[in-house]
Order: sequence, then structure tokens, then C-alpha cells
Amino acid sequence: MKALITAGGQGTRLRPITYTINKHLFPIANKPMIFHALEKIAKVGIKEVAININEGDKELPVAVGQGKKFGLKITYLEQKGGPLGLAHIIANAKSWIGQDDLLFYLGDNIVAGDLKPLIDKFYQEKLDCLLALSHVRDPKRFGVPVIQKGKILKVEEKPAKPKSNFAVTGIYVYKPIIVEATSRIKPSARGEYEISDAHTYLIKKNYRIGYQEITGWWKDTGKPEDLLEGNSLILSSLQGLDLPFTQLKKEWQIEGAVKIGKGTKLRGRVVIRGPVIIGENCLIENACIDPYTSVGDNVIIQGTEVSHSIICSGTQILQCGVRIVDSLIGRNSIVKAEDFTLPSGHKLIIGDNAQVEL
Ligand code: TTP
Repeated sequence: MKALITAGGQGTRLRPITYTINKHLFPIANKPMIFHALEKIAKVGIKEVAININEGDKELPVAVGQGKKFGLKITYLEQKGGPLGLAHIIANAKSWIGQDDLLFYLGDNIVAGDLKPLIDKFYQEKLDCLLALSHVRDPKRFGVPVIQKGKILKVEEKPAKPKSNFAVTGIYVYKPIIVEATSRIKPSARGEYEISDAHTYLIKKNYRIGYQEITGWWKDTGKPEDLLEGNSLILSSLQGLDLPFTQLKKEWQIEGAVKIGKGTKLRGRVVIRGPVIIGENCLIENACIDPYTSVGDNVIIQGTEVSHSIICSGTQILQCGVRIVDSLIGRNSIVKAEDFTLPSGHKLIIGDNAQVEL
């Protein structure tokens, strides 16, 4: 079995983050989002992976590399003609897939559990297609399967009246027949080759479509709180203390699962309540870092409390005197207390499509 991971697309819903970074490289628990997919895939013993990228994308192959550090061989496939849909990605990868079975993994999905049960079920039930399903609170936002007697009859996209509380996640297992299915369908009303149309093609031709439920699934749906949820999901599995120093000073209070990278210094009164991950060469001084926070490399946090947030590398948060919560702060940003020079007031330098709550 080979794996094909998606990492192209437009990422419109994650603006302004995606103006300056491919969303698949945005850090979730201090790792590019796509690394979580690569690790899961390597864990089930798959060796050959292709990553679908936008035409001309040089950033992603440089950031991800050839796969050695994951024990994988990674090939990059440019999506010829543009990001024309998920089924188009598979059709575009036809010669790379050849006659092999395929794990198709949307690179902006994060799952807490293992992929093995999906692959086991695919082979045990001799399926042609397996959809990973997840129980969700709001199925109206997702593709919802119509299931009868354990069989998937169809998948309804964002239905007004969902027939189950399941959503089709972004993880699929296929026999090579999927290549034929994706090349036989027509673009939908929104101009994309839809993967659900390829599934409908298989159902109509009586191929065997099964499903397996997974728990702990997260898919970016565009809002900052969605990325924070993905971050929390990954941080929940953090365990114990992993610190670059052996001695804890009495003015430091470190509780729960906390991982701190090498070269990072704590100074003065510091409270860290896990799960928290802090990168390398940071300075945390007279500050409190509360649960579900990821802090990238080379970050300075002084005189501020930060909770349930993602702070990217190179950023400085200085003497803010307010609690920073539920926030996403990109690379090399500065958030600091007002310096009380006239005119007084909050001074903001913010790019397009940003969101600020004062
Ligand atoms: P989506 O989240 O459906 O689309 P998108 O990433 O372009 O985002 P938005 O709708 O906010 O503009 O894509 C799911 C995954 O598939 C994601 O990893 C991006 C990738 N993708 C491609 O690689 N090529 C494509 O043609 C499409 C539609 C998506």
C-alpha cells in the first residue's frame, strides 16, 4: 500500500494565516501540520508516499524533504491544471499509483488514534473503498454518509437534514479502481472533481464500500478556534515532563505534561501548567503559560499570561499586562504593552483579513 497526502489547495478559509504559509506547514503542537500525517502513515508500515502540491510550490518540498527522517520515500506530484478537487488529485497521480492499494490522506486532517484499524478492516472485509467516519456534533458542516444495514448507500454533502451524526473524515483506503472512478466523473456545480462523486460511481458499479469509525478527529474548518482545537487534540497526548534542565528553581511552578526544547530559559517567577509545549531557545520570564498552549522556537514571553494559544517562532510577547487567550500569533510578531507616548491608545500593524479582540 502507498499513501497519497494532499497539501495543495487554496486555504482561503484560513486567511490571513495562509497568505504567508501553506496551511499544511502551520505548526500544530510545534510541528508542521503535515508531519502529523506523515508520522501516522509511517507508523502503519507504509514506505512510499506522494504529496500532492500546487503547481510551482517550492516551499513545501523544502520544508518536508525526501522523507528519510520519517522512514519514508516521498515523491512530490504537482497538480496539473490547478487545485481542481480531491478526485482530480487521484486522477493526476494515476501513473504513480499504478496497481497498488492506496491510503488517501487529506494533509489538513489530524487524528488522535492509529490508522491500523482502518487498514485491517479494509483487508478483512475485502473492500474496494473504506471511508473513515467520525461522530460529530454538527454533521451539517460535513459530508454525511447514509448507512443502511452496515452499507453506505451514499454520502450527502453538508445536508440540511443529516441522516446520521457521522462525518466522512479526510482519510480513505482504496483499491486501484479508484483511479478509474476519479477519471470517469464530471466537475460539480462548484467546478471541482468531487471525491464523493467518485464514491458514488463505485457504489453504482457495485464495488464494496465499507467504513470504520475513528475517534479524535480534527479537520481545519477555517476559524482560528479550529486550529486551536487541533493543537489541543495533539497536546492532549503529551505525557510527563521533558525539560532541558534537571534542577527546578523554587520560583518555578511546572505542572502536568510539559515539554521544553533545548536552550530555552526560564527566569523569575514562571508558572507552566500543561499540556504545554515550548520550543528551543525561548525566554519565559515572569510569565504564566496555561494549558493547551504551543510556543515555537526563539520566542520571548515576558510579564504576560498566555493560555490556549499557538505562538509561532520568533515572536515576542512583552509585558502585556493582560491575559492572552485563544490566540494564534504568527511568526516574528511583536505584542507588547503600550509605551505611553502620545498619541495614546492601542497601536496595531495588522495584515489583511486579521481578527483582533481588544
Ligand atoms: P479543502 O480544505 O477542501 O480546500 P482548501 O485547502 O483549498 O481550503 P479552502 O476551502 O479554505 O480554500 O482541501 C482539503 C485538502 O485537500 C487540503 O489538504 C488541501 C487539499 N487540496 C488539494 O491539494 N488540491 C485540491 O484541488 C483541493 C480542492 C484541495
